Amino acid sequence: MTSRNYDVKNMSLAAEGKQRIEWAYREMPVLRLIRERFTAEKPLKGVRISGCLHITTETANLGLTLKAGGADLVLCASNPLSTQDDVAAALVKYGIPTFAIKGEDGDTYYKHINAALEHKPNITIDDGADLVTQLHTKRSDLLKNIIGGSEETTTGVIRLRSMYQAGKLKYPLIAVNDADTKHLFDNRYGTGQSTIDGITRATNVLWAGKKVVVCGYGWTGRGVAMRARGMGAHVIIIEVEPVRALEAVMEGYQVMPLLDAAKIGDIFITVTGDKNIIDKKHFQVMKDGAMMANSGHFNAEINIPVLEKLSQGKRTIRTYVEEYTQQDGRKLYLLGEGRLINLAAAEGHPASVMDMSFADQALCMEYLVKNKGKLEIKVHTVPEAIDKEVARLKLKAMGVAIDTLTAEQKKYLSSWEEGT
Ligand SMILES: NC(=O)c1ccc[n+]([C@@H]2O[C@H](COP(=O)([O-])OP(=O)(O)OC[C@H]3O[C@@H](n4cnc5c(N)ncnc54)[C@H](O)[C@@H]3O)[C@@H](O)[C@H]2O)c1
Repeated sequence: MTSRNYDVKNMSLAAEGKQRIEWAYREMPVLRLIRERFTAEKPLKGVRISGCLHITTETANLGLTLKAGGADLVLCASNPLSTQDDVAAALVKYGIPTFAIKGEDGDTYYKHINAALEHKPNITIDDGADLVTQLHTKRSDLLKNIIGGSEETTTGVIRLRSMYQAGKLKYPLIAVNDADTKHLFDNRYGTGQSTIDGITRATNVLWAGKKVVVCGYGWTGRGVAMRARGMGAHVIIIEVEPVRALEAVMEGYQVMPLLDAAKIGDIFITVTGDKNIIDKKHFQVMKDGAMMANSGHFNAEINIPVLEKLSQGKRTIRTYVEEYTQQDGRKLYLLGEGRLINLAAAEGHPASVMDMSFADQALCMEYLVKNKGKLEIKVHTVPEAIDKEVARLKLKAMGVAIDTLTAEQKKYLSSWEEGT
């Protein structure tokens, strides 16, 4: 259904979406505390926000929190395949104009980003930096309204830092991804669990005994490897960075070049944020039946155009499973069109972990408004006070108490005189 004010698949899905949003909210106690305070204090009163995020139940709860804080918010999808159509419809019902349809084509994807920009935002929230890039390159007329923005994921932060290095960045942005309460938990435990979930839902595969090749041993790779091992898989790690490769070896994983792993792997998962990780030479030696999935931000990690060229035929054998028949008869399987499998075939990260990432986001929105005009134009880290507060609130919500330093210990830890 389209309208000037929103573009979602089907408004009749709204009731179902509302219930799922409520269900997720039960697992978001930190965001709940922030929403209660925002409702009373209205720190975002009158602030126009355009958010380009995965349209999921958790994002809806972030949106409702910002709205409770007084923000005038619109949302669009940050990936063509990650939208939950019932949630998009519910958001419209909640009064948050939303532009997102699961499976939208590239043109619609950018049309939706432009619709979100038409809102003339004071603040942007991005997941992957497509909105910020569009704003800088195609809608620089809107820059005059901007206070600042935030970025949710590793790939987006890399893009923003490279914009800054090139002297192209025009307003202050906060790298929410780099907060400890974000990447240590969301990227690791969130992507770890939900990637396994996405592949399982798409294929119903048994993990036990499978050779699982994880490309990239960063925060997401560590999580995916850990959870695949927990399911009984033999995990092989592919890395280019020696310290991370060494860490993987000492964690007990096999580490080898991808060309060697390509010959023995059953399931390949890319989480590098890089491009063409799995390429022609790998497709050529993979075993019959090998499956490939990506959980990195863009669908560039598996060289799909080359896979298409090498194949003599292709069919959709299950939802989210494309079978590519090679010239020699081997069948290779691509899951979720090479897009983030956890969001394409499952529901993305569980709410409990997004509670922290989106608490960071909400508090960063408030910080940007409070510091309007004072922040240098660069990519900022999340203030330590916000990071620590989110961890403190999460522990409290989980019923976990911790010790505090004594005065004697504080003095000892900040002194150099005492030794053996
Ligand atoms: N699916 C999700 O929901 C989700 C969640 C968080 C992050 N992400 C995305 O996942 C990707 C990875 O994020 P991260 O936080 O783990 O990043 P990271 O920087 O911590 O890790 C990436 C790792 O990939 C390695 N790498 C790069 N090129 C490689 C190559 N050619 N071969 C092997 N390894 C290579 C790097 O050395 C690094 O160790 C990013 O695109 C990020 O935006 C997705």
